[in-house]
Amino acid sequence: MSKDKLLTLLEENKGQILSGNDLSTALGISRNAVWKSINALRKSGHDITSIRNKGYLLELQSDHLSENEIRMHLLKDDEAYNIIILDEIPSTNTYLKENKDLPDNTVVLTKSQTKGRGRLGRSFHSEDEGGIYLSLLKIDDLKKYNTELATLAAAVATTETIDTLCGVTTQIKWVNDIYIEGKKVSGILTEGTIEFETSTLSSLIIGIGINVNTEEFPEEINDIATSLYKITGKRFVRNEIIGHLLSALEKNLLMTISDPKGLLAKYKKKMLYFGEEITIYRGSEISTGKLLDLNEKGHLIIESNGTTRTLNSGEISIRKRD
Ligand code: BTN
Repeated sequence: MSKDKLLTLLEENKGQILSGNDLSTALGISRNAVWKSINALRKSGHDITSIRNKGYLLELQSDHLSENEIRMHLLKDDEAYNIIILDEIPSTNTYLKENKDLPDNTVVLTKSQTKGRGRLGRSFHSEDEGGIYLSLLKIDDLKKYNTELATLAAAVATTETIDTLCGVTTQIKWVNDIYIEGKKVSGILTEGTIEFETSTLSSLIIGIGINVNTEEFPEEINDIATSLYKITGKRFVRNEIIGHLLSALEKNLLMTISDPKGLLAKYKKKMLYFGEEITIYRGSEISTGKLLDLNEKGHLIIESNGTTRTLNSGEISIRKRD
């Protein structure tokens, strides 16, 4: 379709003026058809400026989820991602669980989620269209990864991407929350499906939510949630973040086998509450202890009353002790 080809050309030359003449030649359509397609693209949210007697320009800050632009920002293009962008769905993780025929390396993204899910049955605020809500499906060669460390790899990938592109310093609250200045900016939900007959893992779904250009949060989470926009006062192009994030994710997932120590070292550098007293929640059970370390499985090592114990992420969440 000429509208899609036009968008690709504008995206490949983002921030540069393309003349109506050049566009009509490149696409093999009339200048009037170019103009009509430009208007259609504007209507669907692309920030395109017309410059009198010069042509059209897709603004550098135009922030519209686009497969082509995501691909342009992949750091290495050897992963054949199947990218699906949807307007609004309950949850990208749920979508991958329910649609069984999707190929390996499918990435599903949506503008907003009506039932964004978090760990421990919690919800994740995702009605805002300024956020990134994505899930990646892995089904082939799961032996390439130590899936036990997948959440940690995703957390490291998310912090690396945000720090590099947004000039902020993120931290990780074990096991899956990304914080900036004491507030949550991103969360990760890793899920798997088990093959009943063989009791082996048959798919891995890694869901990542990032509050990017979100301006306001509902009152009930305003004190605990933040966005990259709220922290920096700047807007970011989500396609760029997504491209980098997918590449960083693959790199860190591979480290779960090739260099787990290196991965854990990166995770620990970012981890909140090291050496501090924390409160540990397991359902209605509450206990306290000092966070000493992480073991090779990414489990917490806690000391309380002179004894150490290891806690696995299963049903546990932690907070700094008041
Ligand atoms: C948490 O806060 O415990 C994790 C939040 C994970 C949110 C992401 S958004 C994309 C994907 N789809 C979901 O429903 N959840 C994850």
